[in-house]
Amino acid sequence: MTVLASALDPGGADHTAHREAMLGKLAELEEEHAKALAGGGEKYLQRHRERGKLLVRERIELLLDPDTPFLELSPLAGWGSDYPVGASIVTGIGVISGVECLISANDPTVRGGASNPWTLKKALRAHEIARVNRLPLVSLVESGGADLPSQKEIFIPGGAMFRDLTRLSASGIPTIAVVFGNSTAGGAYIPGMSDHVIMVKERSKVFLGGPPLVKMATGEESDDESLGGAEMHARTSGLADYFATDEPDALRQARRVVARLNWRKAHPDPGPAEPPKYDAEELLGIVPSDLKIPFDPREVIARIVDGSDFDEFKPLYGRSLATGWAALHGYPIGVLANAQGVLFSEESQKAAQFIQLANQRDIPLLFLHNTTGYMVGRDYEQGGIIKHGAMMINAVSNSRVPHLSVLIGASYGAGHYGMCGRAYDPRFLFAWPSAKSAVMGPQQLAGVMSIVARQSAAAKGQPYDEEADAALRAMVEQQIESESLPLFLSGRLYDDGVIDPRDTRTVLGLCLSALHTAPVEGARGGFGVFRM
Ligand code: COA
Repeated sequence: MTVLASALDPGGADHTAHREAMLGKLAELEEEHAKALAGGGEKYLQRHRERGKLLVRERIELLLDPDTPFLELSPLAGWGSDYPVGASIVTGIGVISGVECLISANDPTVRGGASNPWTLKKALRAHEIARVNRLPLVSLVESGGADLPSQKEIFIPGGAMFRDLTRLSASGIPTIAVVFGNSTAGGAYIPGMSDHVIMVKERSKVFLGGPPLVKMATGEESDDESLGGAEMHARTSGLADYFATDEPDALRQARRVVARLNWRKAHPDPGPAEPPKYDAEELLGIVPSDLKIPFDPREVIARIVDGSDFDEFKPLYGRSLATGWAALHGYPIGVLANAQGVLFSEESQKAAQFIQLANQRDIPLLFLHNTTGYMVGRDYEQGGIIKHGAMMINAVSNSRVPHLSVLIGASYGAGHYGMCGRAYDPRFLFAWPSAKSAVMGPQQLAGVMSIVARQSAAAKGQPYDEEADAALRAMVEQQIESESLPLFLSGRLYDDGVIDPRDTRTVLGLCLSALHTAPVEGARGGFGVFRM
């Protein structure tokens, strides 16, 4: 065993200060999560209950195996937009009849469960997670369809919702729709494209056009039940495979459908694992609120991996990036963690080599971000930092083992890319409340803009207004700072959620378990040309 030693002083002033700051950010996060949990607010919740309906999270709870966890994804979707936090849909991974499934459930208390641009993004992200990890998809449907005022943003891209369902089915991934209420117009294709469909007596409404539209189109008089009720679809059209007498019965039947899928994971559960040697509570006090102050990511690794056991690879070379082998909840992982912020040529080459090794051995990779990017300056340019950074980005891009990314500190510039940022398709990406991500730090960005403006004025022979410059710098700094914060980025679906640092091991364990539903196979070749 190569158990990591810890230099952390949990009673020390630094630790206490970092912890206090983190707890403050967590309290703020809690408030935002509460908005998503509150759905459409008291009035709409009450109306929903008076109609004898279950709330979206109650439906999910009844669907899942008792006392099993639900890994909710993108709960802050829509944060900072004109739409409610959570985007009128709940998505996540949970266990149904012993099978890890992706659940996508409309929240009908939020604007009738209608889909706005953030709802669409969140639902499509959930589909992607189901596809790449081969998780059966269960849709709990009750929605007013497209959010009509924002139809221009969603009508055309929204077609992907239905395309995804049939593509999942084509690749052998089961899709199940349980319809609790409205599922009309385009929404009718959710049950229409799903492998298995359950409808609820006198509740489901599945039709291409409701009675008013039919009247307008053809003059025909009709009613909801004869056009799209559960009984009609179960007995006459055949769109419903199962007829449920009420909501709990529908959820019970959904559990039976999953039980009969004969769904087998590609890799068995590795069984019990040794917990870390150090207390997860201490994760609150590691990252300084001033991200310019370096911290040792091994302190984080020691608190999330099995037995705090970490075999470091090339520990003496490229020391600003820690790489090494560990296990997390019994699953082998390779870890890449920024140790000093900047990525130099050595770090980049070490990362490229390490990623190739993980691919040869079929080992998933965990990226712990705290980087200000690749090193700039004459010596580094002459030393080939572009080629070396490109090697790392090439390795990350063409690696085929699953990647997990956690933004714990800074994640700036191309460093965000090399460390498997969102565009590099990590299977899951989470942020700690301490994280910040942007093209560069706010001060640097404001400074660069100021230098450019000064040069431009000089070139035109104009005087430079120093006062205006200072005001502009302050404004730009503030704007970039707010745009680099986790709530803002999570609102735009640039991560799968902002997590409490103490939950990191559990969250990653759930992800690793889910992703082992699909075969884990590294690339044996197939990298781009490595510039030497
Ligand atoms: N777009 C935007 N807002 C919508 C909406 C939609 N598609 N569907 C509902 N809403 C809004 C309503 O305007 C209402 O807002 P308000 O409370 O501020 O007045 C709120 O959501 C709740 O709707 P309400 O009709 O009171 O809820 P309900 O539970 O009684 O009925 C529906 C829900 C979905 C059956 C009903 O709202 C409906 O038929 N909506 C339109 C459906 C449609 O034609 N969609 C287009 C399909 S592509």
